[in-house]
Amino acid sequence: MDQHVTALPYERPEGCPFDPPAGLAPLREREPLTRLRYPDGHLGWLATGYATVRAIAADPRFSSRQELMHFPIPGGPEGPLPPGTVGDMTAMDAPEHTRYRRLLAGKFTVRRMRQLTSRVEEITAQHLDAMERNGPAVDLVEAYAHPVPALMICELLGVPEADREVFKRRAAAISDPGSSLDEQVAAMTGLGEFVHELALAKRAHPTDDVLSDLTGSDLTDAELAGVGSFLLAAGLDTTANMLGLGTFALLSHPEQAAALRADPGLADQAVEELLRHLSIVHTGIRTALEDVEMDGRLIRAGESVTLSVQAANRDPARFDDPDSLDLRRRATGHLAFGHGIHQCLGQQLARVEMRVAFPALFTRFPTLRLAVPPEDVPLRGAMGIYGVRSLPVTWGPTG
Ligand code: HEM
Repeated sequence: MDQHVTALPYERPEGCPFDPPAGLAPLREREPLTRLRYPDGHLGWLATGYATVRAIAADPRFSSRQELMHFPIPGGPEGPLPPGTVGDMTAMDAPEHTRYRRLLAGKFTVRRMRQLTSRVEEITAQHLDAMERNGPAVDLVEAYAHPVPALMICELLGVPEADREVFKRRAAAISDPGSSLDEQVAAMTGLGEFVHELALAKRAHPTDDVLSDLTGSDLTDAELAGVGSFLLAAGLDTTANMLGLGTFALLSHPEQAAALRADPGLADQAVEELLRHLSIVHTGIRTALEDVEMDGRLIRAGESVTLSVQAANRDPARFDDPDSLDLRRRATGHLAFGHGIHQCLGQQLARVEMRVAFPALFTRFPTLRLAVPPEDVPLRGAMGIYGVRSLPVTWGPTG
């Protein structure tokens, strides 16, 4: 019987909250593709090497369909998973995926991204003003990291001004650690219904946004609403957690924050490095559709592979001194937005948001610092999207 590991990619980081579980690096060095025992007993695989993760993510012999995968996270469902919900592109293979991807790719145009850049500048400035009025001492997640991307999703989907407060509140309830499961489910259902009604309204009276553009396609009402909900799910918690955890990382590396403050032109590189270093979507999962030879191992049809993006983005074979956070490095080629046909469709929007939001925050509050000891910052679980639940910060004179 092959040697195998269990649970490793899902362990909570010990010590430094920005680093992958300690066991991943020696494993990657020994064997970039290794056997992983899944909680349902399935003996699948774990890929930790950069080249291996990248190759599997781009290989059409591996499927993203949810109903084929073994669920790798301890405590998760043990039986077969249902297919992805309508509009969830990450759970589709070609040709179904190609249909959605073609429709959507043309909607994230340079013109629209440019428009969104000026909106994100206004929205960040408004929230920084509010922080100044209400502070010092705020929860940065509540005051900035969550509402800014929430409002940007409103821009993308064309949510009318009058509905934005309700939208923001429901979206916040979904990711609020204080909400019970019932409250989260209720908020999610409410938001799903909201997006459904919005899609129908856009069908009747199109405006200048992605959802309205899509009403000209062959998507049914249910598919249109599904895509809207999926864009919301894919674009909000991810960007919000990059802003929250990214700020925590910069505050924990004051020399890096100082470099960004001194030269806001560093923002583009800084954002890529934060994406690489933090890899907030820790893993992806693929299932082999046929027998595949990879790194001298045989992955059999039906076996699931967990792709450790965290380990890949810290592979010394690809990035020099990979464990240090260095905003000046050229971190291009990182896998934080995935790779292959599912590579993040909203990455330009996410970049626009982060390139504006980080420098704006650090220049507006030059003395920004944590208001609690770093070990008291509550972290989200290492499954799904990693980040901080809240980030108490303060500014102004010390002592
Ligand atoms: C896919 C990460 C922001 C829309 C993905 C994937 C990753 C990712 C890792 C690939 C999933 C897979 O291979 O199964 C991120 C991160 C973000 C971010 C780290 C923020 C920093 C956004 C935004 C949007 C968006 C703002 C749009 C509003 C999508 C879509 C897909 C996707 C539509 C599916 C693409 C496909 O399957 O073809 N994202 N994302 N993402 N993302 Fe993002």
